[in-house]
Amino acid sequence: MNIKMKCLFFCLLFLFAMTCFYGHAQTAKYNQFHVGEIWLDINGDTINAHGGNIVYYNKTYYWFGEKRNAHQSLGVNVYSSKDLYNWKPEGLALAHSDDTTSDIAWGGIMERPKVIFNRKTKKFVMWFHVEVRGKGYGAAKVGVAVSDRITGPYKFVRSFRPNGNMSRDMTVYVDDDGSAYEIYSSRENYDMRIVKLTDDYLNVTAKDSLLFSAHREAPAIFKYNKKYYLITSACTGWASNKAIMRVADNLYGEWKIVGNPMRGKDSNITFGGQSAFIFPLPKKKNSFIYVGDKWNPRNLEDSRYHFLPIEFSGDDVHIDWYDTWNLDVFNKK
Ligand code: DGJ
Repeated sequence: MNIKMKCLFFCLLFLFAMTCFYGHAQTAKYNQFHVGEIWLDINGDTINAHGGNIVYYNKTYYWFGEKRNAHQSLGVNVYSSKDLYNWKPEGLALAHSDDTTSDIAWGGIMERPKVIFNRKTKKFVMWFHVEVRGKGYGAAKVGVAVSDRITGPYKFVRSFRPNGNMSRDMTVYVDDDGSAYEIYSSRENYDMRIVKLTDDYLNVTAKDSLLFSAHREAPAIFKYNKKYYLITSACTGWASNKAIMRVADNLYGEWKIVGNPMRGKDSNITFGGQSAFIFPLPKKKNSFIYVGDKWNPRNLEDSRYHFLPIEFSGDDVHIDWYDTWNLDVFNKK
């Protein structure tokens, strides 16, 4: 190689390196939500965290969710962020087990993971829907895992049917007094039930009750103006359908139908998605982000996210579609 060729070679190498570096860094720098679009983590990889929840801890947001490949469950991923837009992958919070006799053995399914912090025990507790390898959606159990560190690794504690009831789609909710509850689809999803957790959040109590029988799943709950709001979907597999919101003065009911909270184009099919959870912004009263999954059943890993602000006008609670938006909306109220 003569000197000209060498110069050309190093110039091209430099250009290639800069393109890679900036291409990566720039695509992963967000200052707003791009609702339903591909969302890259700070390494430039697609965020893979479906059906989960967000926890705010030590001035950092942690996003837990199902890690998926095209069709399988690969455990529970966790990401961290300082601004809710840009997420750093923190790895697998909970892995499937190599022990083929375990309820969370590889080949089984872990869905809708929800992490809560127990102030008394100082432990992080993860609840999730468990389906056992080789049994499709027949096991219908809930799983519990625990960790001293928010990012895990979480240690599997147990899986079971709460008080003997089937438990598929579920969420957990910690009320203002620190009491925690699992809200879960039961009896082949025909019933929505609630059960109070033990004080350490590692088990259920006998305070287990039917909320309503309406064939609903994907429960997502928040509390606003001393009332509880519960959004659920119909049961149509991965296909989207109409959301219904209910309201109650008490977690155990009576739950009254408010209607579909979604507004705008495709609001009758939840914008092509399904409720996952509702994140109350820390230190910002009455500020909530609705998070839904825009499932892609042909390739679950490519399922996208619907982060949208919950809006209030008087007693009206609704969720409008925005292609893009940022957290400033919560300062304008
Ligand atoms: C709908 C549920 O909400 C999802 O979590 C998942 O279980 C799919 N059904 C499976 O078809």
